Amino acid sequence: MLPDPNLHRLLELNKIRENRVHYAKVEGAPYVVTKLDGTIKVFSAICPHALGDLSYGTIVEAQIDCPSHGWRFDLNTGLCQWPDDTGQRLKFLETEEHNGWLYLRKAPNDYSL
Ligand code: FES
Repeated sequence: MLPDPNLHRLLELNKIRENRVHYAKVEGAPYVVTKLDGTIKVFSAICPHALGDLSYGTIVEAQIDCPSHGWRFDLNTGLCQWPDDTGQRLKFLETEEHNGWLYLRKAPNDYSL
């Protein structure tokens, strides 16, 4: 058990695959976990457009498509690529690795996306 109450267990590191969408939940909030060129990315599964579920999205060429209306986000920058004038982006969250597990760093009662 980790003594830090801000660390929340997400997934076993050896189960996180390149360019795959993995789903995890922390305190009722849904997250997408994926790996891109060896770098793990974690972001809210709630699409910034209209709350679509990005955990059902598809990753192609370092971008994730939202299944609701097709908005596409770059997984390197988080920026929305299509449509190109939204200014919306995914916010990548802070993680840590301990004993073969991936943890999300999140303050208790932090409900920001
Ligand atoms: S809710 Fe994701 S594109 Fe509309």
